[in-house]
Amino acid sequence: MNERAQAAGSFVEAAKAGEIPVGQFKAVQAGGKRLLICHADSGFYAVDDTCTHDDGPLGDGWLEGTEIECPRHGARFDVKTGKVLCLPAAVPINSYRVQVDGEAVKVNVHEVMPK
Ligand code: FES
Repeated sequence: MNERAQAAGSFVEAAKAGEIPVGQFKAVQAGGKRLLICHADSGFYAVDDTCTHDDGPLGDGWLEGTEIECPRHGARFDVKTGKVLCLPAAVPINSYRVQVDGEAVKVNVHEVMPK
């Protein structure tokens, strides 16, 4: 199996859709990473649980729309892409490809969304 086919088949269940209401997120361990599964109006997103500014725990922060704010110094990231929206962070977080399969929210940690 080539690398691309292997990555495509690497979705792992990270959460149940019904356990994360819209506007909230859940911290999970999936694919060997600490992730946040975020449920925005536009769907589910999976991002790293660690802020790139100074390793703050994004899971202690706030989700508003598709923006997550770090509780330590207020950096904000777009959960759809991982892009930085507000300093002091300068480096994006990773946002991973998500697939909803019935009740299962699955994440592929080998596929990072383009910034
Ligand atoms: S650790 Fe997140 S903004 Fe500083």
